[in-house]
Amino acid sequence: MEKRQNPVIQAILGRRSIRSFQPERAEEEIREILLECAFAAPSAHNRRPCHCIVIEDREQLARLAEAHDSGKMLDKAALAIAVCAETAGYPEGDRAWVEDGAAVLQNILLAARGLGLEGVWLKVMDRSPRNEKIRPILNVPGTVHIIGIAALGRAAETKDPHRGYPEEKVHRDRW
Ligand SMILES: Cc1cc2nc3c(=O)[nH]c(=O)nc-3n(C[C@H](O)[C@H](O)[C@H](O)COP(=O)(O)O)c2cc1C
Repeated sequence: MEKRQNPVIQAILGRRSIRSFQPERAEEEIREILLECAFAAPSAHNRRPCHCIVIEDREQLARLAEAHDSGKMLDKAALAIAVCAETAGYPEGDRAWVEDGAAVLQNILLAARGLGLEGVWLKVMDRSPRNEKIRPILNVPGTVHIIGIAALGRAAETKDPHRGYPEEKVHRDRW
C-alpha cells in the first residue's frame, strides 16, 4: 500500500469541517467507539480531567443550536459530544486541561471519519455569550469548563482533503 493511502493518513488529511448533515441518527456501536477513542487521548500527567456529554435528544440539540452563535448545524447533527474538563485540583496557572480537551476533541473528529461520519469542532470555552448560554443547558458544575462541542453526522456536503503544508511555517533545527 502506498504510504499516503494508509487509512490513518487518509483520515487526518481528509478531515474537514463539515457543517451540513443528512437527517440520520447514529447507531449505538458508533457512539461507543467514539467514546472509547475520545478517552484514549493523551493526558498531561495522566490526570484525565475530561468528561464527555453525549447529546442525541433533538430538543437538547435544538437548544444548543440556538445558544451557539456559530453552531446552527447542531440542529441537524446526528449527535454532538461536548468535551468538558474538570479543573478542580489543578495548580494555579496550570491549564493542561485545555490541551487534554483539545486532544479528546480531535480524537473524536478523526474517529468519526473512520466510522463514515464527519463533523465540526465548535468552540465554547472563553467565548461569550455562548459559554454562559450553553453551561446551564448542559448543567455542568462550576469547576468544569466546556472545551468545545463536536457536532457529528453523515455529511451533506463535500470538501477537498488537505494537501501539502505551508513551508514558510516549517523551521529546521531552530526558528
Ligand atoms: C479551537 C477551534 C474552535 C473552532 N470553533 C468553531 C466554531 O465555533 N464554529 C465553527 O463553525 N467552526 C469552528 N472551528 C472549525 C474551524 O473553523 C476550521 O477548523 C477551520 O476553518 C479550518 O477548516 P477545516 O477544519 O476544514 O480544516 C473551530 C476549530 C478549532 C480548532
